Amino acid sequence: MKYFKKAFDPINLQHAKNIVLTPDEHQPDKFDEETGFMIAFLRDRALLDSDSRVLDFGCGMGRLSKKLIDEFGCYVVGVDMSINMLLLAEKYVDDQERFEPRGQCNARDIDVALSVFVLQHAEDPAKELERIASSLKPGGYLVMVEGPRLVPIGADAEGYVIWHDDGLVIGDLAANYFQNIGWYDYPHREGKKILSVWQRKEV
Ligand SMILES: C[S@@+](CC[C@H](N)C(=O)[O-])C[C@H]1O[C@@H](n2cnc3c(N)ncnc32)[C@H](O)[C@@H]1O
Repeated sequence: MKYFKKAFDPINLQHAKNIVLTPDEHQPDKFDEETGFMIAFLRDRALLDSDSRVLDFGCGMGRLSKKLIDEFGCYVVGVDMSINMLLLAEKYVDDQERFEPRGQCNARDIDVALSVFVLQHAEDPAKELERIASSLKPGGYLVMVEGPRLVPIGADAEGYVIWHDDGLVIGDLAANYFQNIGWYDYPHREGKKILSVWQRKEV
């Protein structure tokens, strides 16, 4: 099956916002609510401060990168495979000193990596996890929000993306490189602990 990269290729900021978090009529404030939830989660665990180097893997249009910088004053490397997402992120985050957009995950000396709704969609999540692990400092953390696999494989006649579950389980793949610290609730996903924290294993 061919990977349909276009699923993540926005034409403008609103389109990008709709891609990063699918709009939900029952959750009109989803964008701000879920962004605020992640920032509060990171603050409560004291994982970040102004000296931290953060990898926002699959940063999209910079939804989390911008808030991370605003809240913690940290340095963020935003990686995304979509050039259009990166161009939008550069404008949206609007901080040339603390935000570094990149097309590939070859970051180094990262304290905390975030992957929020990315690996579940990635073509080769095992390879990406290996790259994330090798970008982290010893003992560095990975915070993930990842549901079941939804791999884009095409679009239907009306342009809606067709998603495929290839059976891979992101948590199982992560366990090759990381030690699990915990699984946590995420807004509007009652009973499904899709938020998890991991620490890089020493090799
Ligand atoms: C659903 S969006 C989530 C964006 C962002 N993490 C957020 O929560 O706002 C998924 C993003 O992951 C990116 N992505 C998917 N696979 C990727 C890969 N292998 N490497 C880098 N970025 C990837 C897409 O281009 C898209 O911007």
